[in-house]
Amino acid sequence: MKRRYSSAFTSIGLSPIVAISEQIRSVAPVFEKSGQRFAFLQRGELADPTPDFVIDATKRALDAGHTRYPKAGGEPWFKEAVIQHMAAEHGIDDIGPENVICTYGGQEGLQLVFGLLGGGTVLAFGPAWSCVLENIFPFTGFEVDTIDLVEEQGALRVDFDELDRKLAAADVLYLNTPQNPSGKVFSREELVRIDELCRQHDVRIVSDEAYKDFVYDGREHVSPLSLGGDHIISIFTCSKAFAATGFRIGFTICRDADLIRKLTLGEYTQTAGVVPFIQRAFADVLTMDEPRRTWQSELVASLARRRDRICERLGPLFGGSLYRPEGAFYLFLNLTGLVPDAPAGEDTSDVIVQRFLDQGIAVVPGTAFGDDRYARHVRLSFSGVSDEVLEEALERMIDGVFNGQARATG
Ligand SMILES: Cc1ncc(COP(=O)(O)O)c(C=O)c1O
Repeated sequence: MKRRYSSAFTSIGLSPIVAISEQIRSVAPVFEKSGQRFAFLQRGELADPTPDFVIDATKRALDAGHTRYPKAGGEPWFKEAVIQHMAAEHGIDDIGPENVICTYGGQEGLQLVFGLLGGGTVLAFGPAWSCVLENIFPFTGFEVDTIDLVEEQGALRVDFDELDRKLAAADVLYLNTPQNPSGKVFSREELVRIDELCRQHDVRIVSDEAYKDFVYDGREHVSPLSLGGDHIISIFTCSKAFAATGFRIGFTICRDADLIRKLTLGEYTQTAGVVPFIQRAFADVLTMDEPRRTWQSELVASLARRRDRICERLGPLFGGSLYRPEGAFYLFLNLTGLVPDAPAGEDTSDVIVQRFLDQGIAVVPGTAFGDDRYARHVRLSFSGVSDEVLEEALERMIDGVFNGQARATG
């Protein structure tokens, strides 16, 4: 019997985030027997329920009978809603329906886009989201090269000389702003310089803007799309901004209409298109004023408070070097000097994650976002827990994980 499999499938791995979630399914109940609450800080989704205005819009869409085959690429009224949303929220007013495709969340957008771009070398800022590294890039035949963001006095900056060098050998740049896992929000000035270099090297930008609605301290999310040009492909999702990860809807925008047409053919081939009543619901939600605005601004304010609390409690331990996330809902902690070395022969990253698990806290190992150079990092999410559970977890982290140890000020 000839049993061959496509290398696209055999080269992908189980995302470490999924792996850790499976592990804690058995660990958490055991911990909770001690009478304490387990802290799920590995989660990349909000603990908040999907808001009523989303549920109601979905029920209305079902009642209105949006249950037949969808139009591949997205219904015209969904695309119209995206166009209005981008103009109202981000001042981008020069896109038409031919520049928009509706996808099954950001993940399908990424898979379609990288699938279409057809392999080669993709350059990504490190640390980078595990799913692109483990799944999307290998699945679509891309080799990844990374350029690490440079930590400097509590800030993360781009080394533009290195970027210039690395872009010379790249086919595509993957840019994620706000960034998972660091929480960096790329400024307009940075984006302009990055874009200039990409144009010089004739490199397309795939811009992952999954967290566009999560920016703090009055910052603005700048979509690279606002810089103009048809070499930028921006990928959006409704998963995070509406606590709606299970609805699986998002959209991708590019001024190159031919590229969108090709993506549409790809989508037709693999799924025939996104569930129409979900499209109808989100066409309403994306263009809704209230209660959407109030719900989102309260959500972002509560996340900012949680971030502040974490920085307040952990900041002193990090001797002034703790990076304060500007967006998204994660902290990427460098634990060098805060946790003891792993015993000889043991994996540093596993030992660190286990220290957290022993204290009833789930985090994602740093290696998921690069490789061994992040073995002493962990990603901690402040989206999936209540203020009270977070507070208890911080207490156990300081006493139990770090043993009250602090890094020298530097
Ligand atoms: C950086 C980034 N991009 C894209 C996504 C895709 O999300 P979804 O497929 O749920 O829309 C995620 C989800 O965690 C993410 O973290």
